[in-house]
Amino acid sequence: MYNEKVLVHFFYPRNVGEIPDADGSAFVGDPACGDSLKVTIKVEKNVIKDVKFLVFGCGAAIATSSMMTELAKGKTIEKALEITDEDITDALGGLPEDKLHCSVLGAVGLKKAILDYLKKREKELEDKRENNK
Ligand code: FES
Repeated sequence: MYNEKVLVHFFYPRNVGEIPDADGSAFVGDPACGDSLKVTIKVEKNVIKDVKFLVFGCGAAIATSSMMTELAKGKTIEKALEITDEDITDALGGLPEDKLHCSVLGAVGLKKAILDYLKKREKELEDKRENNK
């Protein structure tokens, strides 16, 4: 049912865990199946230096979340925001038709973690501006 690459990311997922002093984080879920995913990111000079995930979900959710971290690590914020569920599936060499939706979790989780980072950064800059008045 799954190809070898998917199985490798399922049995040996990369970047599992949580970054304690994360710059951005997100918790997303798929209401249809109840699976959920937490993504934390560390950003340095506009580049995703580290990204980790914790998932409660199916094998495809684990494999796609793992691949999402591999695709995102080392990318600029702008490039990481462009990562789609299709990119994740393609990088894994495909998923069975009925498991394609699982890759959405990783793509949405990453986007939301980045948006959380950008929101926090904007707030920091606003606070700095306020303090300099
Ligand atoms: Fe829910 Fe795979 S069945 S993410």
